Amino acid sequence: MNYLQAKSLLESVGQAHLLRYYDELKEEERQELLRQIEETDWSIIDNFYHPEDLSGKGEIVPIEGLSLEEIDRRKEEFTAVGQDMLRRGKVAAILLAGGQGTRLGSDHPKGMYDIGLTRKLYIFECLIHNLQDVVKECGVSVPLYVMTSKKNHAETVAFFEEHDYFGYDRSAVRFFTQDMAPAVDLNGKVFLEEKGKISLSPNGNGGWFSSLLRSGLMEDVRRRGVEWFNVFAVDNVCQRIADPAFVGATVLSGCDCGAKAVSKAEPHERVGALCLENGHPSIIEYYELTEEMAQARNADGTLKYRYGVILNYLFALSRLEEIASEKIPVHVVHKKVPYLDENGVLCKPETENGCKFETLVLDMIKLMQRCLPYEVRREYEFAPVKNKTGVDSVESARELLKRNGVEL
Ligand code: UTP
Repeated sequence: MNYLQAKSLLESVGQAHLLRYYDELKEEERQELLRQIEETDWSIIDNFYHPEDLSGKGEIVPIEGLSLEEIDRRKEEFTAVGQDMLRRGKVAAILLAGGQGTRLGSDHPKGMYDIGLTRKLYIFECLIHNLQDVVKECGVSVPLYVMTSKKNHAETVAFFEEHDYFGYDRSAVRFFTQDMAPAVDLNGKVFLEEKGKISLSPNGNGGWFSSLLRSGLMEDVRRRGVEWFNVFAVDNVCQRIADPAFVGATVLSGCDCGAKAVSKAEPHERVGALCLENGHPSIIEYYELTEEMAQARNADGTLKYRYGVILNYLFALSRLEEIASEKIPVHVVHKKVPYLDENGVLCKPETENGCKFETLVLDMIKLMQRCLPYEVRREYEFAPVKNKTGVDSVESARELLKRNGVEL
């Protein structure tokens, strides 16, 4: 794409200001900017002006799930089936590590965060240790596909290399990168992050499967005979990954999806809850629940909408392939976005100054035919690191790690 083509394209999408510094750029910077302009999906910005109506829910009813009591009762049966699946290489783990962790405020990939106190203990290391438990239990390596973004790919791979994959079988680990989307200010104008660089951000975790397809790694997936993917977030340092009992329970249920969930601590806890929407599995956000639904209880006193999701899902590959061409909604999310101000100086804002466009893995649940909510103990398995302090923070995660006997 040459300058004139870029100019006309940008004019047609109302973003001509991105060429403001073109004359000041060196030749290779110009080429890089033109390449960025050509590769960007500009249509995504329509979502800023015409956000999808995500509030339009269908008929919502509670979903049946597996409670802790039921799981405890059938643990041996579930575990045996799951172990067999793992030993036969049918389950792979997908680590979603493409996010920017802006709330944590670190400039490095979140998994590189050192959560230790008296020794170094990186978030990636915690996750790998948790996965190693299953490797020891089943006697086979679990394939691990790590999704990064263009922003943090090189640093993430180098970190795993530098730490010798934290003792994990490196031949079982593969990396792939997700796509990027432009970030806009509150008037819908795309930011520059350098005079010759558009501000691009990872486009959410909902595109993990399409990115995996594009990465060429499906050959590896098929060669290994993988049939299920356990998709999990980078920031929950206590979660069990490729958990045999969870795998066994989901397979035995005949569902094409399983979701680990914690029982909501109180009716208005700020977690998305699994439900059925027009007969399909779905996740209803805490702010979408009516007061009546939030308070509704079963005969045994438990909340009807109690299965709060923790971003640890099991997906059947066969179903993912069927829905691969289906669109999932784009969310316009307010975030702090570093940008070049009118004087060409880089600013790092203290408050949300712009929007990013993201698809979310939770929207994939709706496309599955049946989903099994699988309850886990929050004091054992739910320690997300979103913030530095307070709720869902480094501090709260440390507390839980300590309680679970992890030396910090
Ligand atoms: P979050 O929603 O917590 O986003 O991601 P984040 O980018 O990590 O953090 P904030 O909101 O900027 O503070 C949940 C999970 O999804 C991954 C994250 O790495 C995390 O594991 N994710 C998020 C991606 O892989 N790609 C994305 O584009 C966004």
